[in-house]
Amino acid sequence: MENSRGNWGSNIGFLMAAVGSAVGLGNIWGFPYKMGANGGFAFLIIYLALAFIVGFVVMISEIAIGRKTGKGVIGAYQEISKKFKWLGFLGIAAPMLIMTFYSVLGAYCLEYLFLNLGDLAFGTLNMAGGDLFGAMLTKPGACIFFTFMFMAICFLIVKGGIKDGIEKFNTVGMPALAIMLLITIIRSVSLPGAAEGLKFMFAPNFEPLKENFIGVLSVAGGQMFFSLSLAMGAIITYGSYLSKKEDIVKNSAIIVVSDTCVALMAGLAVIPAAFALGGEGAAMSGPKLLFITLQDVFSAMGNIGPLFGAVFYLLVFIAAITSAISLTEVAVTTYADRCEKKGVTPNRIKATGVVCVLIFLGASVVAADGLGSNGMWVPFQNSLGIVGAFNDCWLDFVDFFAEGIIMPLGALLMSLMVGWEIGTDKIKEEVEVEGNKFHFYTFYKICLRFIVPIAMAFILLGQIDGFLGLEIFS
Ligand code: TRP
Repeated sequence: MENSRGNWGSNIGFLMAAVGSAVGLGNIWGFPYKMGANGGFAFLIIYLALAFIVGFVVMISEIAIGRKTGKGVIGAYQEISKKFKWLGFLGIAAPMLIMTFYSVLGAYCLEYLFLNLGDLAFGTLNMAGGDLFGAMLTKPGACIFFTFMFMAICFLIVKGGIKDGIEKFNTVGMPALAIMLLITIIRSVSLPGAAEGLKFMFAPNFEPLKENFIGVLSVAGGQMFFSLSLAMGAIITYGSYLSKKEDIVKNSAIIVVSDTCVALMAGLAVIPAAFALGGEGAAMSGPKLLFITLQDVFSAMGNIGPLFGAVFYLLVFIAAITSAISLTEVAVTTYADRCEKKGVTPNRIKATGVVCVLIFLGASVVAADGLGSNGMWVPFQNSLGIVGAFNDCWLDFVDFFAEGIIMPLGALLMSLMVGWEIGTDKIKEEVEVEGNKFHFYTFYKICLRFIVPIAMAFILLGQIDGFLGLEIFS
């Protein structure tokens, strides 16, 4: 049954969009610094295990739930479950929350792209990465402007619809991204001193796991869910437009493998360069790695530096926008479903506009805060009566709710729902509805019923512990 809401133009179009959703700031900004700060190789091994045992299984379930119901996240959960009807509301709140900071980070990439282009043309950028970043953060007007630009681009793509907007953009954007990433890797690993970084990434070292296993597990787990776009309705939404002919298990495997490869490639583009420039400390410099350390790498390259810088920040921008459109589409599809239920034709342009404006309003606060530089969080924090939490920064606060709580909780409840309420055989039926075979079904069933819930419970606890700095596990 093809649903009346339209479908992807082709399976490859769906894959590009799903990989586009998965590959984002999580891979290029988050993965390298989290790996740097959590033991390098040890983190990598845990991440890979989680991606293939937990991520792959949840990916299959979400695509199947979306396709089975043919609805966005709210409608899908209402239709499929009695006990977890309300889960869809978490699945729509989280993408909106995430977008309020995701768009700001995307805006920083856009701003860096223009700064590097300006430097290329006029050679005006005479600043160390740290000063540049600091100067940008303390100019809230410009940050809000670029956030607006980011959301405007997002609006223009999403309003075009699944096939003519989202699929079209991804089919060009994703291959372009892969090429630009390769160029950056070649430059990064050929810098003098890069070998140390490669060693940090790939030389076996399990010490960090002995020190803080739950800590590494929960950071890797949170990262894996975010990076694969899971537990937030995005994949359910994209799955709801997938044709019944397509092989869900194969598609899930391709998405998980591609996303993991891009995370590794981003690691290769970023970590050796950070080592070449600043030693191990730079690789662990946290969220600022992408905007400070790497900008210094480009500046140190002389005349062609800004060219590499422009290519690199364009790449990160494309990765960010292809993810942002999936986050935005979650709410837009939900609206379209409601219209369909009421028997009216959905006005996609209006719906996309409303969603984008709401996100922009929330994002303006995050942009104005400038990762805490402009002190917008502290008064709010004081009024809540808590001290020194969330690194004094709005972004961390929003991220805590979305990534720290809603996401692991959503995945935990989803696995309980599929594994213990509706049953994995319903997922099998959907996978096999037009003759595709469910390979690895036994593996899937065991993982979903037992391993995923246990892993998610630990990840949830570890995330809460990590964000609130309770240090229960370390
Ligand atoms: N996966 C994207 C990244 O790695 C972010 C993202 C896009 C996302 N859509 C999502 C995260 C849905 C959670 C849910 O940057």
